[in-house]
Amino acid sequence: MIQSGNPSVYMVDSSVSWPPGPHKLSHGRWRSMGAQNLLFLLVSVALGGMAIEAYFIYRLYHPESAMSASSSKVIAAEQVTSPVKRPSPQILPSKPVAHLTDGQDAVHGSKIMAWSMIADPLCYDMHYKDGFLFIQKEGFYYVYSKISFLFNNVFYHSVELNTKLYLGESITLLMSRKHSTKIRHTLSNSYLGGVFHLRKDDAIFVKVSNTSQIMQSKSFENVFGAFMV
Ligand SMILES: *[C@@H]1O[C@H](CO)[C@@H](O)[C@H](O)[C@H]1NC(C)=O
Repeated sequence: MIQSGNPSVYMVDSSVSWPPGPHKLSHGRWRSMGAQNLLFLLVSVALGGMAIEAYFIYRLYHPESAMSASSSKVIAAEQVTSPVKRPSPQILPSKPVAHLTDGQDAVHGSKIMAWSMIADPLCYDMHYKDGFLFIQKEGFYYVYSKISFLFNNVFYHSVELNTKLYLGESITLLMSRKHSTKIRHTLSNSYLGGVFHLRKDDAIFVKVSNTSQIMQSKSFENVFGAFMV
């Protein structure tokens, strides 16, 4: 309860204030030094944490620097065992891609071409099985095929599509035909290529009039591939 007009309410007791004695000064200095040490410790911890973080971010974005030593050893070992084989690339394709070639292990059907698996084909985000290349991601794909064949009167080469939207016969995407009664037993080539909209689980394959006319001497003479554009 404040009584009006009483000056004692505002009176300051000077004896309560701290006397500036020497003991008090040293105690204050000691306290400020402790605070400085604590601040230094906190800053050190913060900077150390940032440095560790920076190291992990660097490792995340530069994984090859950590792998380079081991991968060069792998490449060296590969070159010793099979000098013809190319070293597998360290990077992955940005989009689905496949490039299949002929080979001794490729057993063709009577009309449907098969592709080699021992040739270590490029096949990323697509699935190959028994001559069929299955699409896993919907999109526009450039599809191509090149074959080498022994021509005899008639020959055709086509790229076909099996889709769930159209059950029954396959849809012909690309085709080349050759007819002649005069030319016989000559080596011929056919190249087909075009862009198509393909859906998930669509299957594309190469069909010829008769696979017994396919020249199987070199793997790179008969190829089949597709890549998303
Ligand atoms: C393919 O050609 C071979 C040899 O000329 C023949 O025996 C076979 O019947 C042919 N196959 C087809 C599906 O025409």
